[in-house]
Amino acid sequence: MNRTAGLNADLLKAALTGLTGPDKSMDPKWFYDRAGSALFERITRLPEYYPTRTETAILTAGIARIAAHVPKGSALVELGSGASVKTRILLDGLHDLAAYLPVDVSESFLRQVAADLDRAYPALPVVPIIADFMAPLRLPAAYADHPKVGFFPGSTIGNLEPDRARALLASVRQWPGIAAFIVGIDLVKDVETLVQAYDDAAGVTAAFNRNLLVRLNREAGARFDPDTFDHEARWNPDLARMEMHLVSRVEQGVAIGPGMARFAAGESIHTESSHKYTRDSFDDLARAAGWRRDTFLSDAQDHFAVTVLLPG
Ligand code: SAH
Ligand code: AVI
Repeated sequence: MNRTAGLNADLLKAALTGLTGPDKSMDPKWFYDRAGSALFERITRLPEYYPTRTETAILTAGIARIAAHVPKGSALVELGSGASVKTRILLDGLHDLAAYLPVDVSESFLRQVAADLDRAYPALPVVPIIADFMAPLRLPAAYADHPKVGFFPGSTIGNLEPDRARALLASVRQWPGIAAFIVGIDLVKDVETLVQAYDDAAGVTAAFNRNLLVRLNREAGARFDPDTFDHEARWNPDLARMEMHLVSRVEQGVAIGPGMARFAAGESIHTESSHKYTRDSFDDLARAAGWRRDTFLSDAQDHFAVTVLLPG
């Protein structure tokens, strides 16, 4: 972490840029401090949050079709690996992997998960990479000559604006030795199911959203009172995405280090977008980034899909 005077300088800079002007937003990668990663794990177990259990079932049923695209001796590189729970379906079902390389910004969480995996898979080298997956990825030299298989589950690709999603897909396409990219996408569906998934009855998603303000107070010297912000989940039909916002209940000024964020009552911070795809809209995106979508595995309700992209 880039620290100046005990503060997280990168987070402070992002907050001053994102929160002191009229259209307030933060990159969702800032949700994931240790508490944020733990809250996300609770979200994955909520009855309303269908993506995790649906993707788990798709991966379990489809592992043989996925394995057919994974060459012997591949390094499996997972972007936004989090707790690596679904990864275990791949680690159990793919044979002859050379290594597992999880990439995540949530440093202490990633180190803990990598240590747990080391114990569970003693024969498999597990090499955690603490990095922003939007930056050019430097993979360890030891695996330079191995085929690479990318894994990007959870519909984390949906948290990227379409132009950034295309840029990420295009950059993975350029990895030396890239053989396949396995990508989980959340599909467009009825609005009620979507809104409930992002506004659960137990309030876990609200706590996940507000934790961003707690983190800003601790790491960026901000003075937010999280209780003065409401969690809101909105479907944006024009952009086919769920949006999460933190809406200020009152007019207020909030100090952020040397800066000040001014809120009108009802003004929001846009904290996350979760883009939902159709088979066609995702195929177009993959093609624009130089991939051919091969496999498309979905559940009976067409709520979620796991795709396998192949080069060229
Ligand atoms: N893959 C897991 C976790 C998804 S949660 C699953 O499917 O359940 C999203 C994960 O991506 C978090 O662990 C978060 O820390 C990580 N993440 C979000 N933005 C990131 C970025 N820009 N670079 C690296 N990791 C990121
Ligand atoms: C990690 N990501 C794909 C989750 C999503 O559904 O967009 C994060 C999340 N936000 C609210 N609930 C879960």
